[in-house]
Amino acid sequence: MQDYRAFIDEILVDEKAIEKRVAELGVQISRDYTDQSLLVVCLLRGGLTFTADLTRHLTIPHTLDCMSLSSYGVGRYASSGNVRVNLDLMTNIEGLNVLLVEDIVDSGRTLAHVLQMLKTREPRSLKVCVLLDKKYRREVPVEVDYVGFDVPDKYVFGYGIDIDEHFRHLRFIASADLQKYNKTP
Ligand code: IMP
Ligand code: MG
Repeated sequence: MQDYRAFIDEILVDEKAIEKRVAELGVQISRDYTDQSLLVVCLLRGGLTFTADLTRHLTIPHTLDCMSLSSYGVGRYASSGNVRVNLDLMTNIEGLNVLLVEDIVDSGRTLAHVLQMLKTREPRSLKVCVLLDKKYRREVPVEVDYVGFDVPDKYVFGYGIDIDEHFRHLRFIASADLQKYNKTP
């Protein structure tokens, strides 16, 4: 796999800024759920790094579960409306406070789909925390309760977010020059 330096456009959020914001979100979420407990639902795989860091800043009792979805149907580097559940929750969420943790909200279709599905299971409450928001890309309205950062309309990678399953381990979030990415061997 090629070196990301061959196709990086710019670093959008560096390691320090991520650490600071994730800690702030942990404090805010802990405050909002004071005296309550929470089920944190990590949307695999993009939400993995963010969820791991975020939960370590929670001071309220919480449990963790994961779901894996895939969206398909449009281009290679674009998401689409069709969402398939690859891995469902192990937990019965009826009567629980559920917080969905996702890497990016773009068109909103993935979140809209999963929210609709989870609502039918009658959780006590259902909220959403996303690391990155591409606001102006929204095609479907979704209420997002916690946002790490707004990002521009660029393909991003790092801190859990992949390009062709690589580069999730990077400690920063960067945008990619996809033309360069596709040209390099
Ligand atoms: P939506 O359904 O259009 O809101 O797309 C959300 C999903 O698309 C996210 O969970 C990501 O997996 C993926 N996605 C959107 N933008 C990017 C990006 O810039 N880099 C990597 N994945 C992205
Ligand atoms: Mg995703």
